[in-house]
Amino acid sequence: MAHETLTQRDDDLGVFSPSPAHEALRADLRDLEVIANPAAPQGIDKLRRRLGEVKAHALKHFASEEEGGWFDHVKRDHPRLTKAIQELVDEHVRLRLALEGLAEACAAATSIDAPIRERLKAFIATMRAHESREDDLIQEAYNRDIGPAD
Ligand SMILES: [Fe+2]
Repeated sequence: MAHETLTQRDDDLGVFSPSPAHEALRADLRDLEVIANPAAPQGIDKLRRRLGEVKAHALKHFASEEEGGWFDHVKRDHPRLTKAIQELVDEHVRLRLALEGLAEACAAATSIDAPIRERLKAFIATMRAHESREDDLIQEAYNRDIGPAD
């Protein structure tokens, strides 16, 4: 596949490999946790900067999944999964809003306070659950179910 995709097809095995893009996002989320760890607090400037990078990374990733990416492949190959894909697209909308809100809150804050920490925690949990659902969907579409398409 020429575009940036979630997975790379291994034609010899006929399965999808684990997703490097999701691994990169997981590393981003771990970084945010470290920066906001109340036991070893770091500055709001650092959180602002890193969050800006994570936001850019996540938005690019969402777009790559939605526009000609693996979402389209799954819908084409497995129409029964169209609703599940739509739910993921809808969640991208909510995650984008959460990222915007977090970035605005960080821009207005003078330190990593409890409300920002809570918001960040909620975002990280939602993002992780979302990416796991995507990984599961790929497994369901291509790895567990290598038989004929729907
Ligand atoms: Fe994803």
